[in-house]
Amino acid sequence: MTDIEETLANLSREDRRFEPPADLAANANLKADAYEAAAADREGFWAEQAERLTWATKWDQVLDWTNPPFATWFVGGTLNAAYNCVDRHVEAGRGDKVAIHWVGEPEGDTRDLTYADLQREVSKAANALTDLGVAKGDRVAIYMPMIPEAVVAMLACARIGAPHTVVFGGFSADALASRLDDCQAKVVVTADGGYRRGAASALKPAVDEARSKTDVVEKVLVVRRTNQEVDWDDSVDVWWHDVVDSASEEHTPEAFDSEHPLYVMYTSGTTGKPKGILHTTGGYLVGSSYTHHAVFDLKPETDVYWCTADIGWVTGHSYIVYGPLANGATQVLYEGTPDHPERGRWWKIIEQYGVTIFYTAPTAIRSFMKQGHDVPDTFDMSSLRILGSVGEPINPEAYVWYRHVIGGDRTPVVDTWWQTETGSIMISPLPGVTAGKPGSAMTPIPGIEAEVVDDEGNPVPNGSGGYLVVTSPWPSMLRTIWGDDERFKDTYWKRFEKQGYYFAGDGAKKDDDGDIWVLGRVDDVMNVSGHRLSTTEIESALVSHPKVAEAAVVGASDPDTGQAPVAYVILREEAGDGGEGIAKELSDHVRKEIGPIAKPRQIMIVPELPKTRSGKIMRRLLRDVAEKREVGDTTTLADSSIMDLISAGQATST
Ligand code: WTA
Repeated sequence: MTDIEETLANLSREDRRFEPPADLAANANLKADAYEAAAADREGFWAEQAERLTWATKWDQVLDWTNPPFATWFVGGTLNAAYNCVDRHVEAGRGDKVAIHWVGEPEGDTRDLTYADLQREVSKAANALTDLGVAKGDRVAIYMPMIPEAVVAMLACARIGAPHTVVFGGFSADALASRLDDCQAKVVVTADGGYRRGAASALKPAVDEARSKTDVVEKVLVVRRTNQEVDWDDSVDVWWHDVVDSASEEHTPEAFDSEHPLYVMYTSGTTGKPKGILHTTGGYLVGSSYTHHAVFDLKPETDVYWCTADIGWVTGHSYIVYGPLANGATQVLYEGTPDHPERGRWWKIIEQYGVTIFYTAPTAIRSFMKQGHDVPDTFDMSSLRILGSVGEPINPEAYVWYRHVIGGDRTPVVDTWWQTETGSIMISPLPGVTAGKPGSAMTPIPGIEAEVVDDEGNPVPNGSGGYLVVTSPWPSMLRTIWGDDERFKDTYWKRFEKQGYYFAGDGAKKDDDGDIWVLGRVDDVMNVSGHRLSTTEIESALVSHPKVAEAAVVGASDPDTGQAPVAYVILREEAGDGGEGIAKELSDHVRKEIGPIAKPRQIMIVPELPKTRSGKIMRRLLRDVAEKREVGDTTTLADSSIMDLISAGQATST
C-alpha cells in the first residue's frame, strides 16, 4: 500500500477521539470563541495578535493586499525583532528568568542563559558583526551546531537588520556554497564543529571549501566548540571569542519597517535549485508568537518548553528562536542526537528539566516506537502536558503511542501542519478546545483560512480528497523567493490564480466531519524524516557524476523515515557496468553534493527509464518498483517492455 492508501484506510477505521483535559480546557490561552472572533473580523483579529509585540511605531493599516500575491502586513509599523525577543523581557523585570537551558551532547556539558545573559550576548554579537562590516540589509549566513551562539547569532543579525540565512549543518560544502552565492552572504558565522553521536564532527572545513567555490564571503566568524584543529586564513577568519567577547554590551536596537527582511530560508522545490524563502519582520513575528501561544498554550511563568528541531530548519526558526523568545518562554536547547550516550537521552532531559511542552517529528517518534516502551518507562515524564508533532503526516499508531507512552495518556497531541513558506502553524488542533483524532491535523487555527479543493479550485465535499490551499493571506506568509518574484508567483499562486489561493503542494482529505488529513506532497518533492528534498535536486547531483548518463529518483515509502530516495541510474556507455561498488560511489557522490540526508536508500543501475512518448519519466511506475508493488498501468509508455527489465533487475538485486 502507498502512504496515501494506508492513511485513507486508517482514516476509515479511525474513530478514536481524545478530549482535552478539563483543567487545560478551563485555563487555555485560546478557547472555542477565538474561531468565531477571527471569522467575524479577520484583520481585527490579527491586529489584536499584533498587540502581543512591542512596536516602535504602530502600524496604520493591518494588511495591504492591493498587489497580490505581494502582501504588506502592519503597514507603516516599525519594530526590532531582537528587542521583542530579548530586551523587552529584561525591561519588564524578567531578566533573571532562564531563556535557554542548553544541554550539550557530552553529559554534564550544560549552560543556562537568562534573558539578561541573552541581552548581553546578543548586543555584543551585534556590535561585533557591525565591526566586521555588516550593515542593515547585508546577508549573513549561519552554519552552526545547536549551541547557544547559533541563537545569539540569529538574534544579533535581526538586531542590526541583516537578514540571516541559516544553512543546516548537515548540508555539504557544495550546498552551502550555492546558498551563499544565491543570497550573496557577506559573512558566515560557523563553529569549528559540534558533537554528534559522541564524536566531534567538523563544520569549518565545509565553510573553507565553500569559499573556494564562491568569492562572496568577506569574513568568517568562528565559535570554538570542540577545540579541533582548523585551517585558518588570517585575512578572512575571525574567532568569536576574540571579537564578540571583547565587544561592548551596550547596543541600541534600531526599529525597522514591518516589511524589512528578517531571514531567507532555503528549501527544496521541484527544480534542482533550492528556493530562498523570504520572511519579513512584523508579520512573521506576529505569526510565530501568536501560534506558539495558541497551539502550545504556553504559560511563560510555569512552562518549560522543548522543540527538538535543528535551527537549520524553519521549525527551529519559528519554534525555538522567534516564537518562544518573543513570548518570554523558558526552553531547552539540545545539541546532540536523541540516543546518545543512552537510548533514553531525550526522556532523561525531559525528567531533569521538568519539560511541560514537547515538540518533535513523527520520524523520531517512530524510531522510539521501534525500541519499545521499556526505555521511556524508566523516566518520570509526568511534567509533560502538551505534545506536538510536525514535519510529515503522523500515522495514527505513532500518535497513539506518543500520547500513551510519552504523554501518559494525559497530554493532547497537536499535529501541526505548516511549511517553510507559511512561516508558522496553519492547521492544528487547539489543545484546550479540540477533541483530537489520531492522524488528523484537524482544522485551520483561528485567523487562518484553508480549504481542500479539486482541480478547478472548488472546495471538495466532506469525505473527499484534493489539494490543500490557503484561501486568504496571513501575516507570516512568505513574501517572495529571494531574487525571483516570477518563480514565487509561478510556484505558489499560478495553480489557483483565478481564485487567488496559495497552493501548498500538498494533497489532503476532508473526513466526514470536515476535518483535514494531510496526505503528503503532490509534486516532485519528497519528505525524508521531515526534511524536504526534491527528486530533481538528487537527480542533478547523480547526473553530475562522470559515470552517469541519466537518473530518475523517487520518494518511496519507508517505515522509518516516512519516505526515502530510491534512484534509478543509466550509466554512460564508456563506464561499462560502473565497476564494483558503483552504488556506493554514487551514493557518496550525492552525500558530497547535497548532504547525508539526501543519500539514496537504494541505487539501481538500469538499462532504460520508463518514459512517455513525450519523453516524461513516469516516476509513478518507478515508485511501484521501489515499494515492491505490482507495476501500474504502463500503456502510456513509449516502450512498455522497459518496466519488465527494470522489475527483473530489482528482483535480482534484492
Ligand atoms: C509536510 C516544516 C503532514 C508537508 C514545518 C509540507 C506535514 C512540508 C505536516 C513542509 C503535518 C509538515 N502533517 N504533513 N503536520 N507538517 N508537513 O517546509 O508536506 O520543511 O508541505 O516545513 O512538510 O516542510 P517544511
